[in-house]
Amino acid sequence: MNRKDEHVSLAKAFHKDRPSDFDHVHLIHRSFPQVAVDDISITSEMASLPLKTPFFINAMTGGSEKTKQINEQLATLARETSLAMATGSVSIALKDPSVQDSFTIVRKTNPTGMILANVGAGSSLEQAQRAIDLLEANALQIHVNAPQELVMPEGDRDFRYWLEDIAKIASTLSIPVIVKEVGFGMTRETIQQLIDCGITSIDVSGQGGTSFTQIENARRKNREFGYLDSYGLSTVQSLLEANEVPYPYEFIASGGIRQAYDIFKALALGANAVGISGTILTHLLTKGLDETILLVQQWQSELTTLYAMTGSKTTAQTRTVPLYFTGSVREWCDARRIA
Ligand code: FNR
Repeated sequence: MNRKDEHVSLAKAFHKDRPSDFDHVHLIHRSFPQVAVDDISITSEMASLPLKTPFFINAMTGGSEKTKQINEQLATLARETSLAMATGSVSIALKDPSVQDSFTIVRKTNPTGMILANVGAGSSLEQAQRAIDLLEANALQIHVNAPQELVMPEGDRDFRYWLEDIAKIASTLSIPVIVKEVGFGMTRETIQQLIDCGITSIDVSGQGGTSFTQIENARRKNREFGYLDSYGLSTVQSLLEANEVPYPYEFIASGGIRQAYDIFKALALGANAVGISGTILTHLLTKGLDETILLVQQWQSELTTLYAMTGSKTTAQTRTVPLYFTGSVREWCDARRIA
């Protein structure tokens, strides 16, 4: 089977609603929200670009006939619900022009939407520019995925120049650049390394949802990397880390988002925006496009409810909602000396 098709079918096969560190993040109730629902705005920003909704469809796919159809449906979903959308890594289309239409379908379907192109960390400036041009992208995501590459038999084995390559791309491009993990999370030290490279928009993409060590291991004959199935920092741990790094920079949450309540908790933990991949993909593949549009609309409405309940008129105000932590999240705070 084509590698991109395999990623989709394995992501769906492994997807399940499982316990999460988000279950150990609790809102502290206040009885007087002092807002009216009509005054609430759930808009936000990502890499200085305006978002109508504080969550978006995060990078997934493209590169085959089947994934072209999925991208068309994801782009329709994005258009109908005003979500920003990132495509999967465009690198495959730069090498093989015959699959370019599996990416360009996204712009064709959603001509005025916010679209992010995606390339890997080892990409050159020229490759990044071609990916942007192909999609007429509003921003670029650069993914970092060392564990995935190492478990993938045909993956990269040389990670010496990633930071330099990222710095070069970010300092030259005229559109915003976001660096993202792919479900392994980030520590404050990693985030600081990126800030030192000139990156000011970072998607910590943590563990807890799609696992690319698990997916790549399932593609191996002997499946010898099963011990890495749940490798990485959780999204909540990563967000706590992100809060320890001095501003000004913005962070984005993704990894294991199951529902609107998780989105809200990620915003309350300081994220500007929240990316979702596995949950949307699985819903789309099992329930179809119409049901997935309804799900996204339901999340948008639930977020308005949560903003109202917590007295948050804006996304920025969700950051002041008081929280407390239990279980594994409390332990992480203790281990990393987070107050
Ligand atoms: C991904 N993800 C991903 N990320 C990236 O930067 N470039 C890519 O090409 C892909 N490809 C891809 C394919 C599929 C099928 C899935 C489900 C995911 C990773 C994705 O953007 C995200 O970081 C992780 O999946 C964690 O989020 P979820 O899936 O737990 O919401």
